[in-house]
Amino acid sequence: MRLIRRVVPLACAGLLAGLPAALAAEPAPRPAAFSACLACHTTEPAKNTFGPSLFGVAGRKAASLPNYTYSKALQASGITWDAASLDQWLTSPQKKVPGTKMPFPGIPDAARRKQVVDYLLTLQ
Ligand code: HEC
Repeated sequence: MRLIRRVVPLACAGLLAGLPAALAAEPAPRPAAFSACLACHTTEPAKNTFGPSLFGVAGRKAASLPNYTYSKALQASGITWDAASLDQWLTSPQKKVPGTKMPFPGIPDAARRKQVVDYLLTLQ
């Protein structure tokens, strides 16, 4: 009993101390809500599938990847992707850019949406 009392707190302290280092070494964790995106998108540079690659999307002009065929609507949108425009887009792509060919209804929950946007901002 006495041994357990001594060992358990030590083990916990060790785990906690190791945590920040482990997080820093890993790429940003994918939020659960991002798995829906992977049906149509990759996060690898220039690897388009049904949708354009999301690598480097932050700071990019909408519809600007040279090797992907975008809708006219997104090409004409004048958007540059940042935290605010991505949040609006992911609230309702069809409302933000009527005529877009992204067939996705949006993420209604603001907290889940923010997790996805924060993750997108790390894909550099
Ligand atoms: C069913 C397929 C599908 C799903 C699911 C989907 N997308 Fe898309 N996405 C597309 C398509 C197709 C386009 C191109 C839209 C256009 O040209 O109008 C696109 C475009 C985009 C763009 C604009 C990229 C650029 O280069 O301008 C972003 C950002 C984006 N999607 C993010 C997401 C995120 C984040 C999710 C998940 C929450 C998601 N998409 C889910 C198909 C999808």
